[in-house]
Amino acid sequence: MSNVIVCDHPLVQHKISLLRDKNTGAKEFRELVQEIAMFMCYEATRDLPLKQVQIETPLGLADSNIISGRKVAFVPIMRAGLGMMEGALALVPAAKVGHIGLYRDEVNGNTTHEYYCKLPFDIANREVIILDPMLATGGSAIKAINIVKNAGAKQIKFMCIITCPEGVKAVQEAHPDVDIITGAIDKGLNEDLYIVPGIGDCGDRLYGTK
Ligand code: PRP
Ligand code: URA
Repeated sequence: MSNVIVCDHPLVQHKISLLRDKNTGAKEFRELVQEIAMFMCYEATRDLPLKQVQIETPLGLADSNIISGRKVAFVPIMRAGLGMMEGALALVPAAKVGHIGLYRDEVNGNTTHEYYCKLPFDIANREVIILDPMLATGGSAIKAINIVKNAGAKQIKFMCIITCPEGVKAVQEAHPDVDIITGAIDKGLNEDLYIVPGIGDCGDRLYGTK
């Protein structure tokens, strides 16, 4: 079974509290999502493999470590995942980026529609970190993971800011090999399949569409 890592760093937890506040406006909300993504990316990349190299310092030779093997690809799920992308790239600037466009059905929130997909050609050789602030029913996450797996990806993590037990369970059942990195696991879903207490509709708050 996959790991679920809750990023309990005080800076992340503080920023999530600001994000939850219904009085936080779109500008600050966008900045917070980027900042949280950057801090969480530190956790998501913790197990990147290292290899030892010798570096010549001004005072001698040092046995030191550099990242070896697989490189990273970030895959934001549009729209809301785009809000995390710049933050993640701030930490791993050389990463490639793929895009997947999904939206939940307005009537049946359990159904997810795909409208866009463009992935790096070498995704099979990369450590893939899927970005989406919200993991609610798990429908979008499961579909996005299916898409990157069909493209050949083998090392996949899912990074979100808020999730709930239902979403974690659904992803773990469908994809037991995919670790989830999250900032919080909230109480659950309401009858409209929104996370409570959550942060509301993340895409709408990021882009001011409601
Ligand atoms: C939100 C969110 C996730 C999805 C999570 O996107 O960004 O992609 O819902 O819910 P789920 O776990 O039940 O699938 P939404 O469908 O609202 O689209 P948007 O990002 O374009 O607003
Ligand atoms: N999508 C959101 O933006 N928020 C939720 O709570 C659930 C899905």
